Amino acid sequence: MRLFIAVNFYDRVIDQIVDIQERLRARSLRGNFTRRENLHLTLAFLGETPAEKVDDLRQIIETIRAVPFEILFTRTGCFTHSRKELWWIGAESNSPGIPLITSIHRELLERLLAAGFSVDTRPFSAHITLGREIKHSAPIILNPPNIAVRVDRISLMKSENIRGKLTYTELFGTEMENPH
Ligand code: 2AM
Repeated sequence: MRLFIAVNFYDRVIDQIVDIQERLRARSLRGNFTRRENLHLTLAFLGETPAEKVDDLRQIIETIRAVPFEILFTRTGCFTHSRKELWWIGAESNSPGIPLITSIHRELLERLLAAGFSVDTRPFSAHITLGREIKHSAPIILNPPNIAVRVDRISLMKSENIRGKLTYTELFGTEMENPH
């Protein structure tokens, strides 16, 4: 199965992201926009993985020790590849929560690599994908967002195509615990 590790969002946060996505949509000619229920923050993309590895992944994710925190997303931008634009919401490297999520990502990656998973080791850039293959005729300028994303759970997600729809399902999630 096709798997990835992610942070999912509360409805209130999704509403704020969709608001920005709508502005992007209004300025685009066309694009492949992330469906509301698919918005997430990727921590690690695992790709095609045998089902029997899910238990190992559960153990790896469960060993990550962190207390709940918030990330403040304050930027929009795009990655261009082969003249195709992927638009995202992101943050400055010193934005609240970014050092914490970056260290969670680093720890996760170390454990995944040690367990033999092949994962992308390029520098982590926390982003929320709004849409891919965005086409537009005039430059797109969006007002900077100010979205506080609460991080209190890390999820193993399955990605599949169900009747032509890209669908993400949580296989399990680990709650981050507050200190007692
Ligand atoms: P993204 O984080 O830029 O949106 C599930 O496919 C998630 O894993 C997507 O959010 C996707 O990109 C991310 N991802 C990272 N590397 C990927 C890859 N090589 N192929 C597909 N998805 C990848």
